[in-house]
Amino acid sequence: MAAMHLTRRAFALASAALAAGPSAAEQAKRPLVIAHRGASGERPEHTLMAYRLAVEEGADFIEPDLVVTKDGHLVVRHENEIGGTTDVAARPEFAARKQVKVIDGETLEGWFAEDFTLAELKTLRARERMPRLRPASAAFDGREAVPTFQEVMDLAKMESRRAGRPIGVYPEMKHPTYMASIGLPMEQRLADALKAGGLNSRTAPVFVQCFEAGPLKAFSKLSRARRIQLVGQDRPQMTTAEGLRAIAAYADGVGPDWPLIIPTRDGRLNPASNLVADAHALGLAVHPWTVRAENRYLPAALRKGEDPAAHGDVAAVFRALYAAGVDGVFTDFPKLGVAARG
Ligand code: G3P
Ligand code: CA
Repeated sequence: MAAMHLTRRAFALASAALAAGPSAAEQAKRPLVIAHRGASGERPEHTLMAYRLAVEEGADFIEPDLVVTKDGHLVVRHENEIGGTTDVAARPEFAARKQVKVIDGETLEGWFAEDFTLAELKTLRARERMPRLRPASAAFDGREAVPTFQEVMDLAKMESRRAGRPIGVYPEMKHPTYMASIGLPMEQRLADALKAGGLNSRTAPVFVQCFEAGPLKAFSKLSRARRIQLVGQDRPQMTTAEGLRAIAAYADGVGPDWPLIIPTRDGRLNPASNLVADAHALGLAVHPWTVRAENRYLPAALRKGEDPAAHGDVAAVFRALYAAGVDGVFTDFPKLGVAARG
């Protein structure tokens, strides 16, 4: 009888623990789910609705990419050319703003954030970048304006209160050298915005990321916010032991393209590289990008069917990254990243 009683009690305690969810210590250890441009697999990227959905789905951080307007405001876009993600091409009042520019070595024709005041930019409406791949997201085209960075920080604070857990922001400086070259440097603007938002500390729920090392080093002298050096597959030297040591001098972590951790040669997931262990040995956090569910973005062995828009076995990618010991993952589908984390 006593044994039965104990068993029932143990069961009740275990049930209560499960109902209460993971402990604070468990939560602190588990990898962060970083909503890449919001829940951008399901809503037009970089919109407030994409960020709200990401939080609903359990994301720990929301990611805004940043560019600068003509009048010096930080706004949330993946690139300064705004024709791909807004309705600017359909606005006759802005037809004359169309230009050809060379940005970081790439010739682009379109409309550029730095040629618009914030008030002008706010008249535009956001659109899905890949409507054929993500038609359900494109159904939300035209509903929302381009957010400012301030609005995203405000949303994170409001959602933190609503959800009862901290929602961090993970801003990325886009084209900072180019922006400085046209008189619109980003580093000080970002440092000022974070300070005003109470995010100028080592423990604040914020990471600042950049592909360019120079601007990230400059930012390190202006703010105490944690910094992540992004690394693409075209810069493998940055992930060597020597490259990582150099990063550790000015950053708190590294953000590699995920196949640098789980190589995808031969169209399948291969054993993990040494990148996570090497980075951790230097005290660097590791936050790979960007896990996407569609067949188009998965190695052949994980695809399901022929349709590039169909979802493949993306859980296998999350599981492999988590097993490799990463500290966080950028994803367009935060609910899938949360589910795979278990
Ligand atoms: O910031 C992580 C990842 O977003 C880097 O790539 O081009 O999507 O900004 P991108
Ligand atoms: Ca980014």
